[in-house]
Amino acid sequence: MKHLSVALAIVGLMSASAASAAVDADAAQALMKKSDCFKCHSIDKKKDGPPYREVARKYKGKADAEAALTKHITESPMVEIDGVKEEHKAIKSKDPAEIRNAVLWILSL
Ligand code: HEC
Repeated sequence: MKHLSVALAIVGLMSASAASAAVDADAAQALMKKSDCFKCHSIDKKKDGPPYREVARKYKGKADAEAALTKHITESPMVEIDGVKEEHKAIKSKDPAEIRNAVLWILSL
C-alpha cells in the first residue's frame, strides 16, 4: 500500500505541474489583444471592465470557473457600462484549445 500512495502522490504532482505549464501566457495575451479585450480590462487596474486579477479572485476555488468564463467570452452576454447595456465582446477564436488557454490564463492571475 505504501508504494501505491507514493505512486499516486507522484502522479498528482506531475498533473499539477502539467496543468500550470499548459497555460501559454503569451498566446493568451496575443489572442486577447487581437480581440480588443484590453480596451476595457487590464491585469490589475479598473477600466470599464473589472481587472482580470479581480476576476481570478472572484472565481478562485469555484468548480464552474472555467465554464462560466468560457461562456462569458464566447456568448456575448449583455453587460452594463456607464449605465448603457451592450453586448460583451466575444473572443476572436473558434479554437476551443486557444479559448481555454485564455480562460486559464485569466484564472491564473
Ligand atoms: C467594451 C468593454 C469591454 C470589452 C471590449 C471587453 N470586456 Fe470583458 N467585461 C466588461 C464589463 C463591463 C464586464 C463586467 C460585466 C459584469 O460584471 O456584469 C466584463 C467582464 C468580463 C469578465 C468577468 C466575467 C465574470 O463572470 O465575472 C471576463 C472574464 C471578461 N470580461 C473577459 C473579457 C475578454 C476575454 C474580452 C475580449 C474578448 C473582453 N472581456 C472584452 C467590458 C468589456
